[in-house]
Amino acid sequence: MPIHTLDNNYWVLETDHTAYALGVNTAGALVHAYWGERLPVPTDYPAAPDAIFHASFTGAGHMWPEEYVGLTGLKYVEPALSVSFADGVRDLVLQVVGGAVAGDTLVVTLRDAHYPLRVELHYRAHAAHDLIERWAVVHNDGAPITLERVFSAQWQVPIGRSYRLSYLSGRWIDEFQLHRQPLSPGVFVRESRRITTSHHASPWFALDDHAGETHGEVWFGALAWSGNWKLAAEVTDFGRTRVSLGLNDWDFAWRLGAGERFTTPACLGGYTQDGFGAASRRLHAFVRDNVLPHGRSPHKVLYNSWEATTFSVDVESQSKLAELAAEMGVELFVMDDGWFQGRNSDDAGLGDWWPDPKKFPDGLTPLIARVNALGMDFGLWLEPEMVNPNSDLYRAHPDWVIHFPTRARTESRNQLILNLARADVQNYLITTIDKLLSDHNITFIKWDMNRNVSEPGWPAAGDRQREIWVRYVEGLYRVWGTLRERHPNVVWQSCSGGGGRADLGILRLADQVWVSDNTDALSRLNIQHGYSQMLPADTMEAWVTDINAGRISLDFRFHVAMQGVLGVGGNLLHWSPAERAKAARFVAQYKEIRPIVQNGELYRLIEPSDSSPYVVTQYVNIARSEAVIFAFRRIGGGADAMLDGYHAIDPSQPAALKLQGLDPDARYKITGQGAARSGLAWMRAGLTVALGHQESKILRVRRVDDSGS
Ligand code: GLA
Repeated sequence: MPIHTLDNNYWVLETDHTAYALGVNTAGALVHAYWGERLPVPTDYPAAPDAIFHASFTGAGHMWPEEYVGLTGLKYVEPALSVSFADGVRDLVLQVVGGAVAGDTLVVTLRDAHYPLRVELHYRAHAAHDLIERWAVVHNDGAPITLERVFSAQWQVPIGRSYRLSYLSGRWIDEFQLHRQPLSPGVFVRESRRITTSHHASPWFALDDHAGETHGEVWFGALAWSGNWKLAAEVTDFGRTRVSLGLNDWDFAWRLGAGERFTTPACLGGYTQDGFGAASRRLHAFVRDNVLPHGRSPHKVLYNSWEATTFSVDVESQSKLAELAAEMGVELFVMDDGWFQGRNSDDAGLGDWWPDPKKFPDGLTPLIARVNALGMDFGLWLEPEMVNPNSDLYRAHPDWVIHFPTRARTESRNQLILNLARADVQNYLITTIDKLLSDHNITFIKWDMNRNVSEPGWPAAGDRQREIWVRYVEGLYRVWGTLRERHPNVVWQSCSGGGGRADLGILRLADQVWVSDNTDALSRLNIQHGYSQMLPADTMEAWVTDINAGRISLDFRFHVAMQGVLGVGGNLLHWSPAERAKAARFVAQYKEIRPIVQNGELYRLIEPSDSSPYVVTQYVNIARSEAVIFAFRRIGGGADAMLDGYHAIDPSQPAALKLQGLDPDARYKITGQGAARSGLAWMRAGLTVALGHQESKILRVRRVDDSGS
């Protein structure tokens, strides 16, 4: 039983290695008591804290680590819930009713002291993954109220320490840049106001005070939501640190009628003593086991025609590429943009999801049959949420887009956003895409979204228009979820001009993510490093393309992409026979190591940083019998380094690697490293790898029996 109840007012959620405790303090508030290593017995956990100090300017409630803050009295911290009652009262007095445990979930119910408003705080212990999943449900049993903020969780960490926040930020073609920054008193906010998760920030965090990749305490979390979200990392003037995470309250208002309830997205949180690497591995395993629609099943090597043919697609051009792709061992051929009604550039066609009769006079079937005959699956690009004003759909339904009637409709990439909050829009998309999938042997869809919102109006919703931020995403989930149910074998990719929609919410629908439109292999090392903090390699689509092919070798480009779900996106018509033969060898090698990369555990041996020219990752299979090391040198020495502004890099400097994750007592052989040695030896004494300017290498690690074979 992972959840203990003490004295009916104190609860301990245990996972295999961690524990999370909360309870009611002497003033009756639900407060956080402990989040850390699991202790021997339930009575080992500290009592629910009371206030340690307060003055006439600050009430006791400001001081204690409340689990879910409602603002009342002399409290000025970040609230989790803000409501406006029917009579205009905006003060929330949440009192604990009690807690109930069912299986792995604790529900603590709070109730307002005056109004018939109940808040259920749900805590689910994922024992084997060492994670706690939290969400809140607000019930209104009285006159209509307005929810102005409703977060999923507030995570408290031990008082009196100076924390560093790790977060991901970036922009289009530069997503998932990892930052670590000390927190100081005040509130540091990361958020999305773009109606989608965004390229600019990710709903993920880690807090530490002196952790590294392999050691130290880390508290971390991620939100399962694909729309506007907000993370507020707060340090009070009294030394308390908390991270609040949930739906963004910016421009948000939700009317909750009598008898209605509102459920927040789920937020995961975890604790480890083993550094940032262990924190990521916990999220990776959870995503594989509990989130992805197809779980741990292998992801196919794909070819995508976008960079080769852009909008100029037809049976002939695609068939030529498909033949070359099949020769290389590609398993899935994906035709990108350009195939549907009127689509010759980005200024027309979105919304009209049937094959363009000029390009495909006999429909898509002849091409699909050709691809299937070559032994490959067929996949297709769609951008369902969008419409070009130059489309049959828009001409028929100009009111279906997000807009304010008295304002211009700002176009971006010549397109507008369909209002997926509307049931008629949802139904149109379900019917149209369902037909496409029912009529064809399509097993993969790349679901794209190439702009963010402007003029966020929903005229038909009257005074409830601010609900669009949530209802749009719920509509998206409904459309995608219905299509998933009807076509369970289709694998979906989440793309939003690259990595604009990568989160634990969308991964309940999509098995993989197009991480960035930036396919430069050197940039990818950083982008993939950031992405891997939150999400696993089997969701991380990575293509070998022609970007900077003159400068970066095919080997380097393949090695970078082989760290995720391998794809090829270059123009194969321009590749020489020798290059294609080499590519075929890489694809074959990838298939051999695929179970280790896609299903194994990631260890970062050398992170991208200015202090080393190397970047090295290691993937270890679950049985710890095999591992694969990817080693890259981004910059050489001498003239190469000086051209790139690095003056002090020794050209002969090798990468010193201490492996991780091996069985210390087993013996392993490593490519080019001589005789077998113990796992402990490889992990403590390690090995060195020397590479030149922009060289890379894959090393295989194999467990051998005592005879060394
Ligand atoms: C976006 C995607 C690309 C490609 C184009 C097609 O930019 O990220 O991979 O699909 O759209 O228009």
